[in-house]
Amino acid sequence: MVIKLRRQTIDILKILKEKKLECEASDLANELEIDYIVLMSAINELKEQKLADFKENEVYLISLNEEGSLYLKNGLPERQLLQILLRDEIKETTIDDLLQKSKFEKEMFYIGLSNMKKNKWIAQSKASGENKLFLILEDFPENDLEIFLKKFGTKNRLLYNSLSKDELLQFESLNKRKLIQKERKTQRIIFLIEKGKKLKINEIAELEQISKITPGMLSSGMWKNYNLKSFDVTKPGPLLKAGKIHPMVNLINKIREIFISLGFTEIRGPIIESAFFNFDALFQPQDHPAREMHDTFYLNNPKIAKLPEKDRVKAVKETHENGGESGSTGWGYQWDENIAKKTLLRTHTTATTIRRLADFYRNNDIPPIKVFSIDRVFRNEKVDRSHLAEFTQIEGIVIGEKVTLCDLIGVISEFYKKIGFEKIITRPGFFPYTEPSMEIAVYYDKLDKWLEMGGSGIFRPEVTYPWGIRNPVRVLAWGLGLERLAMLKFGREDIRDLYINPIKWLRQESY
Ligand code: PHE
Repeated sequence: MVIKLRRQTIDILKILKEKKLECEASDLANELEIDYIVLMSAINELKEQKLADFKENEVYLISLNEEGSLYLKNGLPERQLLQILLRDEIKETTIDDLLQKSKFEKEMFYIGLSNMKKNKWIAQSKASGENKLFLILEDFPENDLEIFLKKFGTKNRLLYNSLSKDELLQFESLNKRKLIQKERKTQRIIFLIEKGKKLKINEIAELEQISKITPGMLSSGMWKNYNLKSFDVTKPGPLLKAGKIHPMVNLINKIREIFISLGFTEIRGPIIESAFFNFDALFQPQDHPAREMHDTFYLNNPKIAKLPEKDRVKAVKETHENGGESGSTGWGYQWDENIAKKTLLRTHTTATTIRRLADFYRNNDIPPIKVFSIDRVFRNEKVDRSHLAEFTQIEGIVIGEKVTLCDLIGVISEFYKKIGFEKIITRPGFFPYTEPSMEIAVYYDKLDKWLEMGGSGIFRPEVTYPWGIRNPVRVLAWGLGLERLAMLKFGREDIRDLYINPIKWLRQESY
């Protein structure tokens, strides 16, 4: 008759047959490098087939503790001290000299010293007035204690019950020195029984196991004829790589939350913008270098933008030509409406905040008004590790009575603090539409550097007057780079990574 067993059980049975003797379960599991539980499940299978069995024994096991294991490796303190004397060919020394030479802790040193004396390796004498140590032997073979200690080099644990009389003495002395421990354990001793001993290898066949039951097996009842594979519930499951939110989206959402928590409302404006809102309304003269082709993507289709209300266009025209009502003298040139009508991809989201000023005028809004936008802008730049032609600005304005530069610094530093940058500095800057103007830099501790983040300032009267915003109502404004911030936050050195999406980075950073 053929007996069917699982693959692993067959392997274990073969080993038991080779060994012929009883063996202890955890020793066997160690030897086979399998889990104790896996081994015992195989033994139970053998037991069911009446091939093998196990009995339980209460035993005491002894093993070295941490200090004991250290001495097993380096030698007992007395042996280590002796080694120093032999190495340096010292036959005679003082306690202090030896202590210094050994670099031992005092306690360990004196234990070593007293055992050297006990072993009769050295003698101590005060004959010449000084307290001296002498080596008194030529040869220092390992003593019984050391030989016993060495036994733990091959086996971590020894069976207390199997120690010889002499070994028991050594155990006691290690025990007194607190280098060894004794613990009670239930051992399982595995052995083959008659049927198992007689069974020939060719009388064993591998048991077919299945891991899935089909509806067919269930309805026919056939599933009972199969042997089900057991699950190892301790094994880690396969790694799930689920879709996650892109790190940039997470960052944008965080920024959004910060501004909203500070009482701001989000606004959005068109990507295709008129030169009017992108430049003219910002008091940038029509021959301003930033308007030139190399910076701005002008569009052919649509080619012409609609301008806002005639009287507002007139107000902007007048600020350029003579300062209009703003109290400024303007730029003193003939403003051309056709240039203002040109279409372009907005070069900054300041165009969007100006649209908010226009709405302020139309709606007769009452300050304070606080808005922000996180949106895409475009500049004709060569793309490299620190530049993109299409990037994102974190823009915002506060329209308020008597608001000051301090308020501006307050909002900006609060924002950076909340996003994780404690230290920021502001430095004087220049923008045609703000006065005073500030550049903002944050401190990046990994590089020990201040990094430029964007610009800010208080809109000039030439910018705000056409929209009916007059002293003492002022507009604080800022435009900060999102990708710069993202590089710092995510520790990326190449700005392109943020959108090329290295998969490893995405998996690390997304959640
Ligand atoms: N628009 C500026 C830029 O793109 C930033 C800025 C916004 C400066 C608002 C001052 C006020 O760099």
